[in-house]
Amino acid sequence: MYLKAWLPIMSRQAKRLGVRPSRLLFVDGFAGPGLYTHGEEGSPVLAIKAVLSHTHDFYVPIHFLFIEQNEDRYETLSRTLARYDSQIKGSGRIEDVDKKIGDCETVLGKYLNELRNRGEEVGPALFFLDQFGFSDVSMELVTTIMENPLCEVFSYLNWDHMNRFLSDGSKWDGITKAFGGENWKQVFELETNKKAAFMLNTYKEAIKERAGSKYVWNFAMSDKQEKLLYWLIFCTNNFRGLEEMKRAMWSVDRSGGFRFSDSNDPQQLNLFQNYTEELLADEISERLSEKILNVEQIREFVLTETPAYTFKKALKRLEDSGRIKIISAPLKRRKGTFPDNKLTEIQLRIL
Ligand SMILES: C[S@@+](CC[C@H](N)C(=O)[O-])C[C@H]1O[C@@H](n2cnc3c(N)ncnc32)[C@H](O)[C@@H]1O
Repeated sequence: MYLKAWLPIMSRQAKRLGVRPSRLLFVDGFAGPGLYTHGEEGSPVLAIKAVLSHTHDFYVPIHFLFIEQNEDRYETLSRTLARYDSQIKGSGRIEDVDKKIGDCETVLGKYLNELRNRGEEVGPALFFLDQFGFSDVSMELVTTIMENPLCEVFSYLNWDHMNRFLSDGSKWDGITKAFGGENWKQVFELETNKKAAFMLNTYKEAIKERAGSKYVWNFAMSDKQEKLLYWLIFCTNNFRGLEEMKRAMWSVDRSGGFRFSDSNDPQQLNLFQNYTEELLADEISERLSEKILNVEQIREFVLTETPAYTFKKALKRLEDSGRIKIISAPLKRRKGTFPDNKLTEIQLRIL
């Protein structure tokens, strides 16, 4: 889903930044077999199909890199991908499909080094790190990736497993490797219902401070009984990337495919589904009270600090109900409107 939005955005973004990429790189670091015994398609096949069936033409072709450690799964993956060879060659959209067997971190470390040694820019690139549990994606790996301004990481952290093994000392090194430090151990001083939120926030802080990612966003996934299972973690240095990721996740949720929330509070797993324009208007009003800001700054606040990704309806509500006061705006602006090309010119005070 996100991949579909990501492809044209990243190529446009790269163009805007003056980088002329020769390709977009998509890395699936824990690729799996591509096809499961009951016929379900895995992420490599879904990614290739997304590119082949995309309605946009891209400025540049896509380069895929699939990494899988398990020999049997790697063999199945190779066979599965071979079925798409002729479609790939005929499409002109896919430059290459690289497959490598081995540990993701080791393979990627080497791969990124080789690119750098050849003087090639790493990125625009999306690294999809769909590990099984919580300890195969180290903070060092995320750091190595996020050092490159046009790289993004979409990873997975299994809270249910981590929680089950928290008291097992033999798993602590794995958690420390994932977090890039030992401060997560403060979790032992907390009450049970505070642990998940603490671990998530500690992880997100580490992604920003240790891995140097400008934005980090999470989506919490729960089972039908609303028990928190795992988090999807998205890291980007690119504001538009964050916006598109949130848009994609909202549309997945609306389609009813799975339940998720980006609340940090496991008690409120349904927050995302119930997060209305009215709630957003209240949040803007409360958290930005008395501030003077332009609309671009409000957009940034909404994207980085709230579950929402759109803001105009909430802002219109606030204006209609007199909860914001417009201080300056272009001459012909109509009340309740916030044109994209005028966001910085509309200045307001939140009352
Ligand atoms: C959760 S599955 C990935 C599923 C896949 N994304 C899909 O949609 O089908 C994790 C995969 O990573 C592989 N794996 C485990 N540890 C790995 C490592 N250190 N490096 C690379 N692959 C690894 C496993 O063999 C497994 O196939």
